[in-house]
Amino acid sequence: MTKITSICCIGAGYVGGPTMAVVAKQCPHIKVTIVDLNEARIAAWNDVDVNNIPVYEPGLSEVVAEARGRNLFFSTDVDRAIEEAEMVFISVNTPTKTYGAGKGMGADLKWIELCARQIARVSKTDKIIVEKSTLPVRTAEAVRDILHNTGNGVNFQVLSNPEFLAEGTAVDDLLNPDRVLIGGDANPEGQEAVQALVDVYANWIPRERILTTNVWSSELSKLVANAYLAQRISSINSISELCEKTEANVNEVARAIGTDSRIGPKFLKASVGFGGSCFQKDILNLVYISRSFGLQEVADYWEQVIIMNDHQKKRFALNIVKDLYNTVSGKKIAFLGWAFKKDTNDTRESAAIYVADELLNEQATIQVYDPKVEDKQIYADLDYLGTRSPDLNKKGVTVSEDPYAACADAHAIAVLTEWDEFIDYDWQRIYDGMLKPAKIFDGRNILDHKKLRAIGFKVSGIGM
Ligand SMILES: NC(=O)c1ccc[n+]([C@@H]2O[C@H](COP(=O)([O-])OP(=O)(O)OC[C@H]3O[C@@H](n4cnc5c(N)ncnc54)[C@H](O)[C@@H]3O)[C@@H](O)[C@H]2O)c1
Repeated sequence: MTKITSICCIGAGYVGGPTMAVVAKQCPHIKVTIVDLNEARIAAWNDVDVNNIPVYEPGLSEVVAEARGRNLFFSTDVDRAIEEAEMVFISVNTPTKTYGAGKGMGADLKWIELCARQIARVSKTDKIIVEKSTLPVRTAEAVRDILHNTGNGVNFQVLSNPEFLAEGTAVDDLLNPDRVLIGGDANPEGQEAVQALVDVYANWIPRERILTTNVWSSELSKLVANAYLAQRISSINSISELCEKTEANVNEVARAIGTDSRIGPKFLKASVGFGGSCFQKDILNLVYISRSFGLQEVADYWEQVIIMNDHQKKRFALNIVKDLYNTVSGKKIAFLGWAFKKDTNDTRESAAIYVADELLNEQATIQVYDPKVEDKQIYADLDYLGTRSPDLNKKGVTVSEDPYAACADAHAIAVLTEWDEFIDYDWQRIYDGMLKPAKIFDGRNILDHKKLRAIGFKVSGIGM
């Protein structure tokens, strides 16, 4: 039986970094090397001050501090790390294609293919290759094909092991997952590889929480899990709009339906819309795959989750315009939050980006405060949309390091991320510094609306 003593992970991002740091923490007998082409990212992971690592996650700095230099290493020497490892995780980005066939829908697998080719070229000893990235169902076939046809005659087993961590709670999720999913071939070699990976996780995860399936079920399950989660958000968001027309309150509706044990209370919070690098990309992927098999109804069904989410973001922005007497031209709107959710510095697909874009089209000026997102990221996110020149984005948006300064002289405040610290601000002080009537658009329904109204704010939540 293969006993793993050396692991390499290609990709030091939001998944590769935390996942492998936790493997190293929990398995001091396994050498874990995380490699990336991005030199700046690796340098940040190696920063002597662990508070400067490139991914912000509660508890992650402590994990890195414990394992780094002991059995956890970060490097740009990809070839060497691959060759030294018995098991290679691929945890590179798999964004939506921005060109050619499947543009805007399918996954761009060029980074996966490059990894497979590099592994094939470098490897001189047998290896287990683990797909950690989220991939369209049947990608393992392509990876296997490349490894077998371009390798040096060594044996490769390809496993699927999708990651279910949620950003913001990654360390807890990794230490105590609901389940770990491992897909492998049914033949003896495949099963031996599956067992080798089960043994790694079994160092800290109860065996009954480690599920094993065939490769295709594992690949598809990850897409389906994200589609179901996002569907719940779009479902409650669709009801939020109806609540606003009927004087029902979406929080009350969510509580009422969530106490039904068949529905359950989680993921029932109405908001300005979901963001993050995964939900939209993975659903688009599911839609694209379904369409490519001619399953039009299946594709349309899941696509509606995205359509609803886009509508929710746009609706939030347009409500602000409507409420500010149908014009925000020259008005200052303060944004509290830019990250796609609390407790992360990740901004990919954040609702804030799209709301800002709509308001800039209406000639508003925006002043942003986020506790963990840097100004250069905010400008990069807006520039990436290509709606207007970087100069105009710089002109329309300023970034503040202080929430009170961000809100000073504003016509309105929009809460875009549910950071806990927003709840306890000195709201009287903020009110005193704003133009009147002082308006708050709480896109996360996190603030105490009653208290704010008592101060004098005009408050609009989602679905109430
Ligand atoms: N972010 C999440 O919450 C999450 C959760 C579960 C699964 N996933 C999936 O995990 C995968 C990675 O996501 P992420 O958020 O960590 O992405 P990321 O963009 O943060 O990190 C990917 C890293 O891979 C590196 N890279 C790309 N090609 C490379 C190569 N050939 N050699 C070396 N390094 C290379 C990039 O430089 C980058 O640093 C995606 O498929 C994603 O869908 C993400």
